Parts: sequence; C-alpha cells; structure tokens
Amino acid sequence: MTTQTLAKQVHVIKHPLVQHKLTFMRKKETSTSMFRSLLEETSMLLAYEVTRDMPVELVSIETPMAPMKAPILAGKKIVIVSILRAGDGIKEGMLKILPSARVGHIGLYRDPKTLVPVEYYFKVPSDMEIRDTIVVDPMLATGNSAVAAIERVKSTNPKSLKFVCLLASPEGIRGFHDHHPDVPIYTASIDERLNEKGYILPGLGDAGDRVFGTKT
Ligand code: URA
Repeated sequence: MTTQTLAKQVHVIKHPLVQHKLTFMRKKETSTSMFRSLLEETSMLLAYEVTRDMPVELVSIETPMAPMKAPILAGKKIVIVSILRAGDGIKEGMLKILPSARVGHIGLYRDPKTLVPVEYYFKVPSDMEIRDTIVVDPMLATGNSAVAAIERVKSTNPKSLKFVCLLASPEGIRGFHDHHPDVPIYTASIDERLNEKGYILPGLGDAGDRVFGTKT
C-alpha cells in the first residue's frame, strides 16, 4: 500500500439524499424489498463520495462538433471487497456506478469461545498491488470483523485501502483506528453507542437480516 498520512480520517456523508434514505432504512416497519432498494441506492451515493479523490487524465476525443481533451479516470483498477454477508448489500449498489470494478469476498465468524474473528473464506483478485481497494460492511459495530478483514486485505498489499459502512459506533471507530489509523472510514452516520450485545444504537437492527429477510 502506498504511504498514507496516519490521519485517522472519518468522512461522514451528510448529503440529504443519503440521510433521507438512511432514515427509511432505520425504520423498523421498512420491508425487506424496500430496505434492499434503499441500501442499493445509498451505496451508489457512498461510492460517489469514496471515489471523489480518484485521479483523472486527459485524453483526446472528438465530439460531433470539435476535437477536445477530456478527462477520464486514470487507472480505474478498483476492487470492492465485501465482508460477508451484509457487505454484499453495499457491494451490489457500488457496482451499479463502478461496473468494471473487481470484487473480493471475505467471510469471518466469531469463535464462540475466544470471540476472535476466524476467517472461513477469502478470495480477491491476484493483482491487488495495482488496485484501489474499498472494503465494505454496513455496520462498524465492535469493529472486530472490520479490523480482521482489513488486516487480511493488507496482507495482499493493495495499492490503497478505504473502508465504507452505513453506520458506525464511536467504539467501532476507535477500535478500527487503533489498529488501522492509515485507513479512512466513510460512513453515513456515527450513532450513539453499542448495546451489551454489540448492536449499534439507535442503529437499524441486524443489517444482514434486513437485507436478506432472514429474521425469524
Ligand atoms: N451488526 C448488525 O447487523 N447490526 C448492528 O447493530 C451491529 C452489528
């Protein structure tokens, strides 16, 4: 990874469209299909923000009227790494505006005895050293999974690394940046706190259950 300043950056995306959609995702009566659509739309907007600093280069083109030099993205080697399973909700939306992005997946479960995240799946492109990498998970709660996921992704030596979530807890941000001060966080909201079970308050509940409709 290229050297980034250890600035512990947290970008809260306060755009009214993001905040409006987030409110409807939070509401307990929002249906699975509506939640899924809103997450997809919000993820497109988050992708717009997280790519704001991507470099562009000028290329020569001809419009029907005249030749000109016009900007295109330089490099364009992006990979979105989804932390299973809820990360897939964000990944799908981001792919709508980054259709050429490559996709990676990481699966982690929490060992019930040690509470340490254990990896059960990991697949990313082989050329990570040329890829700007966006790791996605809707909820930065305790931060344990995100910390472990970023650790694993760092071991593949990506060109750059950013983390995108929908909601973050103050505890999660602290834990994340204690381990990875060099990785900027993009989120739509920093909520109040975690409850005793590690859920974000006020939050939106279990993001995976809400995307996939698996709450019993
Ligand atoms: N994961 C979730 O899905 N929701 C939370 O509030 C915390 C972790």
